[in-house]
Amino acid sequence: MAKQSDSWGSRIGLILAMAGNAVGLGNFLRFPVQAIQNGGGSFIIPYLVCFILMGIPLLFTEWSIGRFGGKKGNHSTPYILDSMSKRNWWKYIGVFGIFTNVAVVAYYTYIESWTFIYVIHTVIGTFTQMTQAEVSEFFVQYVNLNGSNFGIPYLPVLVYILVLGINIYILSTGLGGIEKVAKIGMPLLILFGAVLAFKGWTMGAANASAAFPDANAWDGINFLWTPQYGSLFDPKVWLAAAGQIFFTLSVGMGSIQCYASYLKENEDIALNSLTSGFTNELVEIVLGSAIVIPIAAGFLGLDWIIENAGFGMAFQTMPYLFVQWGEIFGAIAGICWFGLLFFAGITSSLAMGTPWMGFMEDEFGWGKVKGALSFGVLALIMGLPTILFYQYGYFDEYDYWAGTVSLVVFALLEMILFTWVFGMENGWTELNRGADIRIPIGYKWIMKYITPVLLLLVLLSALITPEGNNWSAAFASITTGEGWTLDPSSLISKLTHDDLKLLRFSDPENGEFYDKKILFSTLARIQMLVLFMFIAVLVWYSGIKRKSISHE
Ligand code: TRP
Repeated sequence: MAKQSDSWGSRIGLILAMAGNAVGLGNFLRFPVQAIQNGGGSFIIPYLVCFILMGIPLLFTEWSIGRFGGKKGNHSTPYILDSMSKRNWWKYIGVFGIFTNVAVVAYYTYIESWTFIYVIHTVIGTFTQMTQAEVSEFFVQYVNLNGSNFGIPYLPVLVYILVLGINIYILSTGLGGIEKVAKIGMPLLILFGAVLAFKGWTMGAANASAAFPDANAWDGINFLWTPQYGSLFDPKVWLAAAGQIFFTLSVGMGSIQCYASYLKENEDIALNSLTSGFTNELVEIVLGSAIVIPIAAGFLGLDWIIENAGFGMAFQTMPYLFVQWGEIFGAIAGICWFGLLFFAGITSSLAMGTPWMGFMEDEFGWGKVKGALSFGVLALIMGLPTILFYQYGYFDEYDYWAGTVSLVVFALLEMILFTWVFGMENGWTELNRGADIRIPIGYKWIMKYITPVLLLLVLLSALITPEGNNWSAAFASITTGEGWTLDPSSLISKLTHDDLKLLRFSDPENGEFYDKKILFSTLARIQMLVLFMFIAVLVWYSGIKRKSISHE
């Protein structure tokens, strides 16, 4: 089992691959939406605090446990965690670190496939004659599998399979292939981003129109960067900030541990982890905030964005706005935007493939090709329903359970393992072995006490999110004896589909639609549960295999 496995080719390759893992669709699609929905300037302070008190400690932890496990020939979280404790059930906690990746890659690659086809649509000028409503409808038709498909039925499915295939092919070439893609993709992404950000920062009010006379890109920038202290005590904003930090840094997922397990025993982790983490933050804060928000504000005004902030903006609004810049620059902007999203996406989806492949190689001797192909099959089985039943919420269920909840749960558990079970003294030594910088000693304390407590708070507040996400009202009603009313978005209500039942109730005309939504959301959860159990069984079986080998 301890055979010499793959390792990273160079330090710059490692950092770019790690940064590529972190820099993803989350930086460009999720961050701006979260920032707008949580009050712009009032989001940034909690966001930065979460980065320092949860993001960095988790990066340190995951890099450390990854390198530690790798030294013993383990490249996925079940046995990485196992190697850090004497108890034999930690390996089942490690199932999260494979599960999350397989479930997330299923829908993540689907978004990646949209960016791919949108590059092509930009090049052939699909959007040039459309109205804003038509561009928006084009996307709706696409995801509902109805039209916009060059007359090819199920084109979205085919494009998905193609993009998944590209991922599988690169994965089958091992770490070397991943490193190469990161070395090409990351600089291009930054170049494309810089072009668009330059435009975002300089367009001002030049694109205001009769319909939106007050539109000004600066309003968007100011909205984000004028600090506001009013909501500093609102858990809602803190929860959103923590969720964004998790997703964007790829912590709590298992892919950083896997990448780090291919480090050499005394290779630096202190500086490397900070470099890749800060690269992600730079891309998110500088580029991620300088594109969608100012450009949309420059055309449509800030009020429009605040009302319409959502995931759809990138695909439903941006292509129309680009066209307004004329044929040539409009096309360049479109290619930069969707190309940037594609590179951001693929360097992350590749990372999601590695924990599964590492596990199958360590435990069952599966080579790169077999590992990559089997990963593709799993992703496809998980992914097809998200495409076919997109409008019934399959996608959203995955994003919520695998892409949000499970990250926090896993992060909390691994943090406890590292600082309390393995022990902070051991952990600190591990983190600092071969370190090229000195980490402030205060982090020892933060990692042991602050981070786990914060993670627990995040989890608890997600469980009991009060009605309307209005915490002060909820606390007040407790003191008046009225009790605590849960919001449909709370974890507890989600478990009972209260959110969907409520919608069904308030909109009886669409009852049939909501019935379907409830059905498919339930199916999505069952499917995720089956995936989790399947991986757990593999882990159990590998445990038996390991025992019988050690007895021979
Ligand atoms: N950090 C990535 C982003 O910002 C997402 C991501 C990377 C991820 N690796 C992952 C999500 C592993 C889940 C699992 O888009």
